[in-house]
Amino acid sequence: MSQSELTDPFLLVGQVLKNEHRVDAVVGEGGFGVVYRGWHLGLDQPIAIKVLKGLELEDPRMRDALFAKFHDEAKLLYTLSQQSLCIVRSIDFGALTTPSGAWAPYMILEWLEGRSLAEDLSARRAQGLRGRSVEEVLAMLEPAAQGLTVAHQRKVAHRDIKPANFFLLSNPGDGPRMKVLDFGIAKMMKEGEQAGTKGTYASFTWLYAAPEQLDPRLGLTGLATDVYAFALLMTEMLTDRPPSDGRDPVAILKAATDRVMRPTPRSRGASNVPDGVEAACRRALSVDPSQRFQTVTEFWAALTGGSPAAKRNSTVAVPSMAQSQLPYSAQQSSNPYAATQAAPPQRPSQAHVPTAPPPMYPQQMSPPQMSAPQMIAGPMQPYGHTGPPMPPPMQTYRRPLPPRPADTSSIVPIAVVLFVLALLLATSCAVLHAACSS
Ligand SMILES: Nc1ncnc2c1ncn2[C@@H]1O[C@H](COP(=O)(O)OP(=O)(O)OP(=O)(O)O)[C@@H](O)[C@H]1O
Ligand SMILES: [Mg+2]
Repeated sequence: MSQSELTDPFLLVGQVLKNEHRVDAVVGEGGFGVVYRGWHLGLDQPIAIKVLKGLELEDPRMRDALFAKFHDEAKLLYTLSQQSLCIVRSIDFGALTTPSGAWAPYMILEWLEGRSLAEDLSARRAQGLRGRSVEEVLAMLEPAAQGLTVAHQRKVAHRDIKPANFFLLSNPGDGPRMKVLDFGIAKMMKEGEQAGTKGTYASFTWLYAAPEQLDPRLGLTGLATDVYAFALLMTEMLTDRPPSDGRDPVAILKAATDRVMRPTPRSRGASNVPDGVEAACRRALSVDPSQRFQTVTEFWAALTGGSPAAKRNSTVAVPSMAQSQLPYSAQQSSNPYAATQAAPPQRPSQAHVPTAPPPMYPQQMSPPQMSAPQMIAGPMQPYGHTGPPMPPPMQTYRRPLPPRPADTSSIVPIAVVLFVLALLLATSCAVLHAACSS
């Protein structure tokens, strides 16, 4: 679909939100919302505006309650994006009433130049390509693993990991070449659904859904749900094939819950995958969430022998693997896709996160509410969404960061040494003086 063919379902183009955010054009429409390109009038910078759809509620009290939850998600995204350059930067949020009277919450995000991994995979399939090498896939995904590590350390699950939510930047500069989009959106849609919105959108994407999302009897959704989708996405990148041949919900459910035939890279046709990577993917793709790695960080460690962030918040031991089986140690400095080591000092690199912070939103782990048959009745997300051509390059928005407080930790010992030296000098002078005068 070309840019001019995209419709503006909210009739927002040309409007200014909060006297500050001008809406310029529709960029794309996904299952959960519409993304617009816009302009921050105060900062004179491009922005993206994601407006969620299908959340209309008649009762103003329920709408307020839903907006309060949206507010929580917006704050969470802001916090996460402050902690990792690998997560799309959040700028603001709000709610609007469209000219047609529909209510919709929205988020203001940093504008990214480039294209989504879904668009990239579609282009590769169109060229008849047959999968990337393991080295390339790991190098590309390392920033995403870093971003998810930051979230998982806080016990925050993404819940909608799929190629459309990983963005490849065309002008990354010193930053990461991939960013994770849409944190919190799946949860927001789930809450909308529970609040009784009119929308009929599934709060996850069918093709990348974990077994427990499709059949809640298999377990709770949580961090291991992300591990599953991340492994599925790896399989797709290693094969350039969709994670499932079937596109209808029944076929997807069957493939996701088949305990023998798992969608691992080798079983989907990848031939150049080492044993260690295949084994890690098989475990990450377990039907039972408790059998998987419990965080993307642990999965990454099993794949690479290293961590995308230095400290892991490990609750489940990574299976011991002989060093020779660990195929690719994390070579951050040589990885063109990772954030450079010399990250801006105001945003400490994840390699320096000392300990995992306490869980911020444990409710992220809430149990699924929908039954499988209900979900099957929902609409299916289009596979490998191909977005419109991206607009001409613009400068990526970079928010000015506050200066870091001066490090005073070394001042005290220096002062003590100077004080002792001065004391010694004074004593020597006094002794000399006494000696001379006698
Ligand atoms: N911050 C951003 N800057 C630039 N383009 C963006 C930004 N966020 C999203 N996009 C682009 O907007 C288009 C629509 O994104 P959207 O997230 O709505 O689609 P989706 O991921 O397929 O669906 P959904 O997330 O609703 O399930 C995609 O082409 C996406 O790459
Ligand atoms: Mg998206």
